Amino acid sequence: MTVHLDDVLAIEGPRPVRGVVRVPGDKSVSHRALMLAAVADGRSTIRNLATGDDVDRTRSAVEAFGIRARHRPSGEVRVNGGGWGALREPEHVVDCGNSGTGIRLFLGLLAGGDGHVVLTGDASIRRRPMGRVVEPLRRMGAHIDGRDGGNLAPLAVRGATLQGVRHELPVASAQVKSAILLAGLRAEGVTEVVEPAQSRDHTERMLVSLGLPVERGADGVRITAADVPAFDLDVPGDPSSAAFHLVAALVTPDSEVTVEDVLLNPTRVAFVDVLERMGGRIAMEVTGESGGEPVGRITASSSVLHGTEIAGDEIPRVIDEIPAIAVAAAFASGDTEVRDAAELRVKETDRIGAVEQELSQMGIAVEVRADGFTVRGGSPRAGQFKSHGDHRIAMAAAVAANACPGQSVVKGWRAVASSYPGFGDDFASLLPAR
Ligand code: S3P
Repeated sequence: MTVHLDDVLAIEGPRPVRGVVRVPGDKSVSHRALMLAAVADGRSTIRNLATGDDVDRTRSAVEAFGIRARHRPSGEVRVNGGGWGALREPEHVVDCGNSGTGIRLFLGLLAGGDGHVVLTGDASIRRRPMGRVVEPLRRMGAHIDGRDGGNLAPLAVRGATLQGVRHELPVASAQVKSAILLAGLRAEGVTEVVEPAQSRDHTERMLVSLGLPVERGADGVRITAADVPAFDLDVPGDPSSAAFHLVAALVTPDSEVTVEDVLLNPTRVAFVDVLERMGGRIAMEVTGESGGEPVGRITASSSVLHGTEIAGDEIPRVIDEIPAIAVAAAFASGDTEVRDAAELRVKETDRIGAVEQELSQMGIAVEVRADGFTVRGGSPRAGQFKSHGDHRIAMAAAVAANACPGQSVVKGWRAVASSYPGFGDDFASLLPAR
């Protein structure tokens, strides 16, 4: 694998992948840890923070709010929180880069504060829907303005007094749920969020592990106002990053990869069930716990895969792994059908369109619908792939290319920086010397 001019990955396959790898800290947990540490009473220490640009934007934003949050040479980040009152009005527009989690969770965190903050992001973020967060926050009393009536960034937040509400999410979304819960930490009365299906639950787990007043029932999550205590946290490895190394092992002959110290939260590792259902030889083992989250290892080896169906309540629990699963589907016999996944249209790029285009480049037929696609598995071939500016499409293309005979390129490779800037090096460490 060679990266040219920082933006084109050249890769010649097939090459087996073998070995043990650790991936950077989980992106979802990292954003939440930085935001809660920013409003905590005292100094928090976060180890193994996600290394990508998305989380670094959140760290920089915390500093723009006047809270010191520096990376130490040891890799630790110490955040000198001073309680809710210590957040200052930033001097400039806050740029959340490519991060939907960053901008949406900040809206919730800041809605009940003082002062005026303008949040924006890159071209992808400025196209993504924000009304799903802005509308419930406005019902709580938030003052938020933006383009398209507040549906599109840049978004201006003017601090307000918030009132708890009960909000029923039309579509399961951890970002929307989390924004409302963070706002609920400053609202009068009870704030309640009800979801149609379980989305990732890191915010709830982190708040519970900090001893805050959160109640989790069968039908939703309830929270009341609280101050946040300072904390120490080791962020487990990101399973969404691990998925690419693991799928590489499944689809490439003579391969076996173990990812160590990875987050095994059940709302995040449903992709392991899907891959197992496809005939994948993949297993997980819980070895410990961190910040209320299970941690362990996942091992995958070369497998004969067949198609499956992914739909309904399973979708929110595999939403970020669909590009990796689509690669497994391309190498599987038979059809893999993804339904009820219209959310893929509004991720970093339209991931339904991107999967179709990139798998077609591999000679694999994909039938597309509004809410999903069907992959007709076969024998993918090397080709010229594109990232669509999306980190997960870039990594999916790379692991597919590694398993195909011949020379491939992935253009727009620098997109990997959003979540996993070291992916190329980590993946190369699993390739045997030529
Ligand atoms: C995230 C939630 C998911 C996911 C995103 C990260 C989070 O989005 O796609 O990458 O950290 O809360 P939803 O809001 O659609 O659940």
